[in-house]
Amino acid sequence: MKEAVENLLETASHEVGGLAEDPKGLDQARIRFLGRKGELAQLFKELGKVPEQERREAGRLLNEAKSKLEAIFSEVAEKARQAAAGKREAIDVTVPGRSPLVGRLHPITQIATEITRIFNWLGFETVEGPEVELDYYNFEALNIPKDHPAREMQDTFYISDDVVLRTHTSPIQVRVMEKRRPPIRVIAPGRTYRCDSDVTHTPMFHQVEGLMVGKGVSFGDLKGILTTFVQQMFGPETGLRFRPSFFPFTEPSAEVDIQCVMCRGAGCRVCSHTGWLEILGSGMVDPEVYKYVGYDPEEVTGFAFGMGIERIAMLKLGIDDLRLFFENDLRFLSQF
Ligand code: PHE
Repeated sequence: MKEAVENLLETASHEVGGLAEDPKGLDQARIRFLGRKGELAQLFKELGKVPEQERREAGRLLNEAKSKLEAIFSEVAEKARQAAAGKREAIDVTVPGRSPLVGRLHPITQIATEITRIFNWLGFETVEGPEVELDYYNFEALNIPKDHPAREMQDTFYISDDVVLRTHTSPIQVRVMEKRRPPIRVIAPGRTYRCDSDVTHTPMFHQVEGLMVGKGVSFGDLKGILTTFVQQMFGPETGLRFRPSFFPFTEPSAEVDIQCVMCRGAGCRVCSHTGWLEILGSGMVDPEVYKYVGYDPEEVTGFAFGMGIERIAMLKLGIDDLRLFFENDLRFLSQF
């Protein structure tokens, strides 16, 4: 009997010990060892067969085994309770949640959208053109002769003899006129490239091109449209001036300056103490350009303009370092 009891205790502690994480298994084991028809109960039944003089001692052994078994089970049950409680505590429901990162548009995209929105409102349709461009559209058809300094390798990324990365958005003018007949009113934002890199120049930057062609389109229309644009973009009180300039594809040409947004014309570091900031180039489409697209310069006239988006963005958002746009620093980008 003694041997049987010892065997029972050993098997039980061996098997039950590993059941802390298995509540079903623990219940089954309890029935198997301590149940009414369990292994301990079987031994109690055999008590009757034990010889009279040993029965007392055997009974004591069995009772002792019963409390030992119960102790084993309650120890494992306690372990199981703690394990379950520990698991629950791993989630602290009182900790404030992490808010998900919200994406936003790059300031250049925001300003480009604002510019095109103003021109859309003025009746201009948004169009696009290729960034890898034929020399023909980027230079030739814009009346930029072969010996023009803009064609220098220093300024232009050449892909091959007659393919370049566009150096401005003006080739879109030619592409649009080639495909359509006047009246035309388009606005064309996009990336542009020049082989240039320093504090105020990046090899890739953005421009917006505008083109309006039709019967009787005049320099007065150019002034009116660009004045309206400046007032919409920088506020109705912003002064502007048209300064004579030169572009091979416009005649006459003008650059537009706005009153310095930092000092309101008083003169400061940003405007080199002139009170004015240049924001775009423009002019009446040169009759030479119409020859390339088959328009009759006696029939139609038009104007075009082009502006740098980074420059407008810096003025509008009060940013003094161009490089911030290209560093992808979220501390900067998330401010807009
Ligand atoms: N393409 C010119 C530039 O990059 C700007 C311009 C566009 C001037 C249209 C006149 C007309 O400087």
